[in-house]
Amino acid sequence: MHILAIETSCDETAAAVLRDDAAILSNIVLSQDEIHAPYGGVVPELASRQHLKSIDHIVRESLTAAGVALENIDHFAVTQGPGLIGSLLVGLSFAKGLAYYHRKPLLGIDHVQAHIEAAFLENKGIAFPVLALIVSGGHTSLYFLKEKLSFELLGRTRDDAAGEALDKIAKFLDLGYPGGPVIQKLAEAGDPRRFEFALPRMTDRSLDFSFSGLKTAALRLIRDNRISKDDSRLPDFLAGFESAVVRALLENMFQAAERLNPTSLLICGGVARNKRLRAEFERQARSLGLNSYIPSPKLCTDNAAMVGALALSRIENEGKTLKKKGFSLDLDAYPRIIAEG
Ligand code: KG4
Ligand code: ZN
Repeated sequence: MHILAIETSCDETAAAVLRDDAAILSNIVLSQDEIHAPYGGVVPELASRQHLKSIDHIVRESLTAAGVALENIDHFAVTQGPGLIGSLLVGLSFAKGLAYYHRKPLLGIDHVQAHIEAAFLENKGIAFPVLALIVSGGHTSLYFLKEKLSFELLGRTRDDAAGEALDKIAKFLDLGYPGGPVIQKLAEAGDPRRFEFALPRMTDRSLDFSFSGLKTAALRLIRDNRISKDDSRLPDFLAGFESAVVRALLENMFQAAERLNPTSLLICGGVARNKRLRAEFERQARSLGLNSYIPSPKLCTDNAAMVGALALSRIENEGKTLKKKGFSLDLDAYPRIIAEG
């Protein structure tokens, strides 16, 4: 059995072919970074237009690379939400067309849950319960998985996503887009203790995140200290900011771990490529004796292999019920996160 998965929720046009044993036969990702770079962030209208231009050849390329003909695809899967509505609709309409023409079932997949599934794709034996942090340019959320495919939302950002905060500070300093990787590189040589960043505190017992306060504090430090792109203090400033973002993410995550007693912890999403976050996450998990997992960098940022992987898991686990109601050509795109999976 082969599945063709399509992902167009933000600014990557992606298609992947997976076999039923979850082997990735192809995983093609076309990034639109260059198109959005002049604006310092994703421009939704440009993103959907670019998906329209690219989707056909990216899907073809994924089939060629996998050595599988379209006629031999048994299932189609596509990201249904959350994401940019115009971008989602391009992938969804394209997938519907393929499924309709080839008379094969189509499964709508949640993008955030797919990011989490990326970790299971590479580690079949992750022990439950699992506490998962998904951290990207569009999302910063904590999920508790009592068992496979059960996604309980524990907390989410009340304002900016962590990646969005990194992207915005990079934009303000004219460092380039996406900001996360640029900041990581420049911060490598910096001293994170030179500039002080206070972390926001939730006044309730909520496990929600907030990054707008940290972003405002960073902007104030930039202005007060007249830090600019060519300043010799830039690496110190960026190292301080990056480590404050990492601390804000992990403090919340490990507070949740204390309350819920998971056996395994995982982080995923584009920001999980960050070296400081990866190292600090693994160090803290180890000190508590918990298993820790992070997908390899290519499976952290948006891709369609994670979409195909979640589709396969759902087909395996919900086979009979899916046959009745799961596969549909009436799927609608949804822009926002859905609380229960
Ligand atoms: O998962 P993703 O590709 O798209 C969304 O679903 O948002 O994540 C993109 C985000 C961007 O904000 C980018 O700056 C961030 O991931 N990112 C990083 C790194 N690589 C990508 N942030 C920090 N360090 C990195 N190495
Ligand atoms: Zn994503």
